[in-house]
Amino acid sequence: VQTQGQDLLLKGKKVVVTAGGTVERIDPVRYITNDSSGKMGFAIAAAARDLGADVKLVMGNTQAQPPEQVEVIPVQSAQDMYEAVSKEWQDADIVIKAAAVADYRPKEVYTEKIKKTGDTLSLELVKNIDILETLGKRKTHQYLIGFAAETQSLEMYAREKLERKNCDLIVANDVTRSGAGFGTDTNAVHIYDRDGLVEELELMSKQDVAHRLLRIAAERIAGRN
Ligand code: CTP
Ligand code: CA
Repeated sequence: VQTQGQDLLLKGKKVVVTAGGTVERIDPVRYITNDSSGKMGFAIAAAARDLGADVKLVMGNTQAQPPEQVEVIPVQSAQDMYEAVSKEWQDADIVIKAAAVADYRPKEVYTEKIKKTGDTLSLELVKNIDILETLGKRKTHQYLIGFAAETQSLEMYAREKLERKNCDLIVANDVTRSGAGFGTDTNAVHIYDRDGLVEELELMSKQDVAHRLLRIAAERIAGRN
């Protein structure tokens, strides 16, 4: 971990990171969530802290421990996450959406526990707001980084998301590769910008991925001024 003066690449910068999975309520004792461990987002928040940034970590559901000396904003649903990120958006310099946001939520949230009745039960789901896409439309000076977890056609899907959500960078990982993606301590990612591949990182710790990613972002922000 570098903490020397010349390495405080993000000193004076505000970095907002989302991590973990969202929790979508069904009734008082049940919910829908996903396998996101939060580890990639936590590694990014810790790396940004080490590079001198003012870090806000918007944290959904996770089993892992968030890094120390980082301001944590706990949230549950996609809607909560959207509201928390929106509050931090205006003066943010870099916004990194590593969270696994549920695409759908139950249409109805029951106030009482659903009783077991018939042989089948259908839950109707409705689409959640796409946080990244919404931020992309609002973007002024913010440097916006999205993630894309794919099981096929990695580059095509990742670049399509980058365009659609107006991101500056997208971090794509092939979750079918062992050691990459949900729950692991390592990751193998491809980083794209509008023009194509920026870097293809071999399998490495999420800490190292985080540092490489933030260095790219810091250089690009510096290059714009
Ligand atoms: N994302 C978001 N809000 C959503 C869904 C996704 O902000 N409601 C963000 C994720 O945090 C991630 C990026 O969008 O940074 C890509 O998420 P992903 O699930 O890969 O893409 P989707 O657009 O949801 O498409 P699909 O799940 O169909 O591949
Ligand atoms: Ca999705």
